[in-house]
Amino acid sequence: MPDTLIVNARLVSSGREYDGDLRITGGRIAQIGSGLSARDGDNVIDAAGRRLLPGMIDDQVHFREPGLEYKADMATESAAAVAGGLTTFMDMPNTTPPTLDAAALEDKYRRAAGRAWGNFGFYLGASNDNLEAVRTLDPRSAPGIKVFMGASTGNMLVDDPETLDAIFREAPTPIITHCEDTPTIEANLARYKARYGEDIPIEAHPDIRSREACLKSTQLALQLARRHDTRLHVLHISTADELALFEHGPLIRADGSRKRITAETCIHFLRFDRGDYARLGNLIKCNPAIKDASDREGLIRGLAEDAIDVLATDHAPHTLEEKSRPYQQAPSGLPLVQYALNAALELVHEGRLTTAQVVQKFAHAPAQLFDVRERGFLEEGFWADLVLVDDTPMTVRREDVISKCGWSPFEGTTFHTRIAATWVNGVLAWNGTALAGTPQGQRLEFAR
Ligand code: DOR
Repeated sequence: MPDTLIVNARLVSSGREYDGDLRITGGRIAQIGSGLSARDGDNVIDAAGRRLLPGMIDDQVHFREPGLEYKADMATESAAAVAGGLTTFMDMPNTTPPTLDAAALEDKYRRAAGRAWGNFGFYLGASNDNLEAVRTLDPRSAPGIKVFMGASTGNMLVDDPETLDAIFREAPTPIITHCEDTPTIEANLARYKARYGEDIPIEAHPDIRSREACLKSTQLALQLARRHDTRLHVLHISTADELALFEHGPLIRADGSRKRITAETCIHFLRFDRGDYARLGNLIKCNPAIKDASDREGLIRGLAEDAIDVLATDHAPHTLEEKSRPYQQAPSGLPLVQYALNAALELVHEGRLTTAQVVQKFAHAPAQLFDVRERGFLEEGFWADLVLVDDTPMTVRREDVISKCGWSPFEGTTFHTRIAATWVNGVLAWNGTALAGTPQGQRLEFAR
């Protein structure tokens, strides 16, 4: 394969933004510098005026395979992801069957091989009765162990106190949690049912899946993690109130030590708030719920101030038919991977974050947090997972959606950027208008 030489780019990585060139050889970043000269046979790309970033690493997606392929599958969703500049995904265990043991995990890796457009890792799920599988998990076989400390799609709730304690004590990898207190939610739901019967309005969703439910469950997760010194990553923080529970400061502290407890928020909590239910209805129904404008503001600040370490999508596609059902029957979750980076870069356009901060939260931090080997940075020797961003406005249209569900919560939205190209393992995967070549995703390696 000929080398690719990207020249005149604005490179953004490791907190720096600088003009330069980057050479790809054999799938890896061979050289970064300025004035790199082309050799015979090089594929030269002039990236003048464009930002070149490491490909984003999404630590939370639901690609629905196996068992729910009518909504999504690894090929379609990873294609949507690379079109959006996301070159690595870590997929959740609430499939059918759920990923509860090593055999189910390996089945997923087999399915992804040759079909995934991005690099892939799969989480093991915890349940009330798979402690042995949790305890004996090979830490190099999964980014982490997912614990639903609140019931959501797929019913994988772990609510037995002794089991929870044992999982936090014995997990050989980071634990990642969905934190919403189910009894609180059930009590809220009962009140709304008493008032509205079967016709609960979607606007009630953030009051049913309430901030109190989030706070209570997140507090419990932190308590367990502190008791056992567990590596804990709390997923999809949706309230500003929870931020006070987390350490404010960089993932890697000045003395070189790392946070043991980290937090993630998701794109939809930064772009939508309570006011959007009237327009988008069940399309933005998700768990945890999108809450108030003040939460949205607080979460953006939380990213800027390093109370939140990671930005992800929680890409969770459902069909339009499912979403058109009444509130209680409509499933929670929305498709996000294809436009997540554009949406994050709007925060840069608005002056709320820098590009370097987006790269920190959406590429560097997930790589570091999960010990991903040789990805997530523009660094010589690392795999050439790259995204080129062009400052040309782009309006999202339904006909351009690649996700199998065929819709986006961003339809009609004009973003100030578009994804001009994405490379996965040094091979062009997205050329700005269409997928290119064949799926190049590789199984992630974890340096543990
Ligand atoms: O909104 C959500 N959708 N939250 C979850 O926790 C699960 C996800 C899904 O799988 O649909």
